[in-house]
Amino acid sequence: MYPDLQHHLSARRHVSLRRLQAPGPDSETLHAIAEAAAHAPDHGRLHPWRFILVPPHQRAGLGAAFVDALVVRDPACGDEARAAAHAKAFHAPCLVVAILVDDPAANVPREEKLVSLGCAIQNMLVAAQARCFASGLASGAGMQASALRRLLALGAHEQAICFIGFGSADAVAPARPRPGPEHYFSSL
Ligand SMILES: Cc1cc2nc3c(=O)[nH]c(=O)nc-3n(C[C@H](O)[C@H](O)[C@H](O)COP(=O)(O)O)c2cc1C
Repeated sequence: MYPDLQHHLSARRHVSLRRLQAPGPDSETLHAIAEAAAHAPDHGRLHPWRFILVPPHQRAGLGAAFVDALVVRDPACGDEARAAAHAKAFHAPCLVVAILVDDPAANVPREEKLVSLGCAIQNMLVAAQARCFASGLASGAGMQASALRRLLALGAHEQAICFIGFGSADAVAPARPRPGPEHYFSSL
């Protein structure tokens, strides 16, 4: 029985990045959260993922990349939409980008690498939860934008999958109903 683990798993829930406030994890805590990622299952021991922190002094650059991405998608977008895109870069006191590293030379299908990345992300979310930090994920149309790829200096076989925000939450949504195993777990 691991009641603490079950508690942290149940207590974790998505908090929108704009609702994540300071304090976020300090560098030592973030290091411990990042260490949890390395415990993800990983077929072929490829480490088919990495994470990039976007520190405060890089948020304006991220905002500019979000605006570039928006303008490519919608060249007619107005000032308000641009300002909203820029503002998103400042959400969450601690902001990390999850990157899939899909080296085609590795004889493991992309799907399995994505599973490994998902496990690594979940490990980090639960590790943060266990340290009383809230978290949330954000993705969207801009994830594959050239401006973001340039800012993150992604390699040819790398893909930004989502942002992970860590921080503190004033109020956490009540537990939502979760399907029981009878809805998704069967026996042949
Ligand atoms: C890869 C990935 C990307 C996500 N992107 C977003 C997003 O852009 N915006 C958002 O509100 N939630 C996003 N989420 C979070 C889900 O909305 C959230 O997990 C879902 O509402 C279930 O809530 P829970 O995590 O509290 O169980 C994302 C989740 C995953 C796995």
